[in-house]
Amino acid sequence: MLLEVDGLVKRYRTKDRQVVEAVKGIRFSLAAGTILAFLGPNGAGKTTTIKMIAGLVRPDDGDVAVEGHSLSAASGQALRRLGAVLEGSRNLYWRLTPLENFEYWGGIRGLSRKMARERGRELMREFGLEDKIGSTVQQLSRGMQQQVAICAALIHSPALLLLDEPTLGLDLDASDRIQEYVQRLAHERGMGILLTTHQMEVAQTLADRISIIQSGVLTLEGLKEDVLARFTGSSYVFELAEAPSAGARQLADQLGAAWTGEQEFRVVLDRPTDVYDIMRALEPCPVVRVMRETADLATVFRAHTRQSVPVQSGREAMA
Ligand SMILES: Nc1ncnc2c1ncn2[C@@H]1O[C@H](COP(=O)(O)OP(=O)(O)O)[C@@H](O)[C@H]1O
Ligand SMILES: [Mg+2]
Repeated sequence: MLLEVDGLVKRYRTKDRQVVEAVKGIRFSLAAGTILAFLGPNGAGKTTTIKMIAGLVRPDDGDVAVEGHSLSAASGQALRRLGAVLEGSRNLYWRLTPLENFEYWGGIRGLSRKMARERGRELMREFGLEDKIGSTVQQLSRGMQQQVAICAALIHSPALLLLDEPTLGLDLDASDRIQEYVQRLAHERGMGILLTTHQMEVAQTLADRISIIQSGVLTLEGLKEDVLARFTGSSYVFELAEAPSAGARQLADQLGAAWTGEQEFRVVLDRPTDVYDIMRALEPCPVVRVMRETADLATVFRAHTRQSVPVQSGREAMA
């Protein structure tokens, strides 16, 4: 297995000396050639998890293995096989040019100057940025900087790439290029990619597998198709001709209605015949439309995070 994450825990001490458990025993694995999207609300623990895998934050418990090399026992070997781009392109020196950055970061990863320059040129060419290789990083657009950051992370040809919010705040063109490139890396070259995002449409496009993390716990994990299919058959939209009485609304609420307006709600039903229970609850309010909804990742995420109350340990959550 390319990446194995086994029971990672991270506790932070806040300013008023309270202990916050940001990551609570997360475990998962990632195979080569696969893109795994880590989804979760702000503060869920996505960045902390990715930093622990990248060896930038020391876990309080658990371990990570990259191609069988454990981060605690053989960190050098594990880290040599991975590249990471964290939020804010912190893997680049802004006063240096891309070429100088590649020499520097390549050197740290054991590449000769010549090798780093060659590889850097090749990567920049793949992004169509070869003419920017001699400009200082700070002169480049935000989107270009992010593409250069990805090149720097790939300078030593790692097997695993970690991307924290890779397209956040980028213009559409840069975002599209990066998304296409990431897909090529995984599906044509067999790299494993772990990315975090709270942009659901990005995950919907890129991901082979989805994980949802809430309050430091993985609460859902699976193939994207399976995750979508699980909700697609059971997701309905109801439109009413008028606002229902308070009593009817309360009855519908008890059956799981999530109101999107005075006269419209969405609901996830266990069985198709549960539609009749909803109808009875609403009586005599006239129903205009009932539609089965094709679930997209945004809907799934909303439904899932509404339903699930995170439990204390990752192992229970995965069960
Ligand atoms: N260096 C830190 N010191 C104290 N608390 C932190 C630190 N970094 C993150 N946290 C806390 O850990 C939790 C998870 O944060 P983070 O991993 O950044 O979440 P995400 O990337 O999903 O938004 C949050 O409650 C955050 O406030
Ligand atoms: Mg984050």
